[in-house]
Amino acid sequence: MLYLDARDAHFPALGLGTWELRGRDCARIVEQAVRLGYRHFDTAQMYGNEREVGEGIRASGIKREEVFVTTKVAPDNLAPRLLERSVKESVGALRLGEIDLLLLHWPNKGIPLAETIDALVGMKRDGFVRHIGVSNYTVALIEEASRLSGERLVCNQFEYHPYLDQSKVLAACRAHGMAAVAYSPIAKGSTRSDSVLTRIGKTYGKTGAQVSLRWLMQQGVGAIPRTSKVERLAENIAIFDFSLSDAEMKEIAGLARDGRLVDWAWSPKWD
Ligand SMILES: NC(=O)c1ccc[n+]([C@@H]2O[C@H](COP(=O)([O-])OP(=O)(O)OC[C@H]3O[C@@H](n4cnc5c(N)ncnc54)[C@H](OP(=O)(O)O)[C@@H]3O)[C@@H](O)[C@H]2O)c1
Repeated sequence: MLYLDARDAHFPALGLGTWELRGRDCARIVEQAVRLGYRHFDTAQMYGNEREVGEGIRASGIKREEVFVTTKVAPDNLAPRLLERSVKESVGALRLGEIDLLLLHWPNKGIPLAETIDALVGMKRDGFVRHIGVSNYTVALIEEASRLSGERLVCNQFEYHPYLDQSKVLAACRAHGMAAVAYSPIAKGSTRSDSVLTRIGKTYGKTGAQVSLRWLMQQGVGAIPRTSKVERLAENIAIFDFSLSDAEMKEIAGLARDGRLVDWAWSPKWD
């Protein structure tokens, strides 16, 4: 396993995404993931599954300090009082004690960022969360948030896979000492059948999805692929026994096109 280091945060680069995993199936897949070696889990208030993610982790019997759990504040909860209340609810739903990493899920233009950041910092200072960060932040937002925050922002989580050039956001994360974590890292499964990724993968006995994850790891970027299938849990973590060459890394970067998959009415103006 590779680890990401940002300021005083240290966490596994590969984690399990849980968007759309629900109920018993969610708890079961999280439990299985722990057994297969996953030590980083990504949930959110918006996913409606914090309770089940916590259940799956507890059911696995792993020691609490051996797993790293991220959750995210919904964009509707960014006013200070709502943020505080909703994060306390998240802590109550997860039942894992302190949250390891709390992110602002999306920016919300309707609420002054300074107020939200102060409330976020307050949750860390009051001991509800160990680390704080952001998600879907653009270069300008990263700069503004970093300037406003009285505590280190350790992470930006954003869409990143071979079909989307994210060099600007990545450079801003590096400049501000933030870990970059890629969501939709296998482009929602479509990297599996990509002809270039499949050809490269054949050399190593790996699938296109594994090549896409490895490509992120070799840039020092984290990834949180999601699956509801146990066999794919094993596939997506089996990426630490091969290395892509510089030429392969470049060829994969060359697949970038206008490939954004996650975009909503509330999205910021992307870089
Ligand atoms: N911060 C944000 O705004 C944000 C936005 C989007 C996502 N996320 C986080 O990032 C996580 C991952 O992103 P995502 O769920 O959008 O997409 P993803 O992980 O790129 O792809 C998930 C899809 O790929 C399939 N899949 C998984 N492993 C596979 C493999 N080895 N080969 C082929 N197909 C495979 C899954 O289907 P099966 O279940 O059938 O395997 C699922 O349909 C989310 O779950 C969530 O935790 C965050």
